[in-house]
Amino acid sequence: MQQETFIWRHKDLLDVDQLTREEVFLLLDTAASLHEVNLRSIKKAPVLKGKSIILFFAEDSTRTKTSFDIAGKRLGADTFGLSKSGSSMQKGESLKDTALTLEAMHPDVIVIRHQCSGAARFLAERLPSCSIVNAGDGWHAHPTQSLLDAFTLRRHWNGEFEGKTVLIVGDCAHSRVFRSDVQLLTLLGVKVRICAPRTLLPAGVESWPVEVFSNLDEALPGVDVVMCLRLQLERMAAGLLPDMREYSARYCLNPRHLELANPGAKVMHPGPIMRGNDVSAAVADSPDSLILTQVESGVAVRMAALFLLATRSDNGARA
Ligand code: CP
Repeated sequence: MQQETFIWRHKDLLDVDQLTREEVFLLLDTAASLHEVNLRSIKKAPVLKGKSIILFFAEDSTRTKTSFDIAGKRLGADTFGLSKSGSSMQKGESLKDTALTLEAMHPDVIVIRHQCSGAARFLAERLPSCSIVNAGDGWHAHPTQSLLDAFTLRRHWNGEFEGKTVLIVGDCAHSRVFRSDVQLLTLLGVKVRICAPRTLLPAGVESWPVEVFSNLDEALPGVDVVMCLRLQLERMAAGLLPDMREYSARYCLNPRHLELANPGAKVMHPGPIMRGNDVSAAVADSPDSLILTQVESGVAVRMAALFLLATRSDNGARA
């Protein structure tokens, strides 16, 4: 890779709203060139040899944690995992003291997932010497998920975002993926619709750049991609969903629904999927599903994010 061709000015990756269109395409182009490494029999491009990356996951994760770990290792960095369970946070150590302790070990990047919105920014403001990547903070943001979604769509649409329509279905109120996806897709020129029961719409939805539906059959005509979202029960107050069976009957995406969308429409889901609740098994397992392509994209996008952040100071960039 021609390292000197990349100019990345950000110390941290906290949300997509900090990125210009040019920076998004820089990251997506970098991911596209690194994606090739993942298809080789020897999956190594040691451009981050000697760099240290801490994966600090205070909330559970399969896709994000594993793909950051794989991404760092494939680029030759040393990666170190820390979970809430098994850490001294269980003994009462604060987030600030945990972060300062980790920084004292001189990592180049800390990737953090935390249940509190703003946790990644909290670290970024207190740790001047290492980059912070937000791997999901409360309901707030999940920037690398939206970037991997854009990477997946760019491949599927051969680079054309303008004029496409994405419908996001499900629990928008509690979803950080929803918030980051709406921001990024809108920046790229994609029209966004959302469909959810009124109780699962985000507060202030009227000011979001989205078209709002409550009836899935009415939302689907003209749609190129349907993005299903899981019910975030761990963040949901009691009483928002009086009847789970009724919810699934109205919002779980099935093959009949897809026939109402544009011909060739595809299905995405950030995962974990809940078969029968948010997406039917018939749709999830069909050729119309890009769900596992999203997972594949996640490795390339996280390689790109780690590369741009960890080599930024080597290239003389300033935040
Ligand atoms: N999409 C996503 O963040 O999945 P994980 O919770 O498994 O990381």
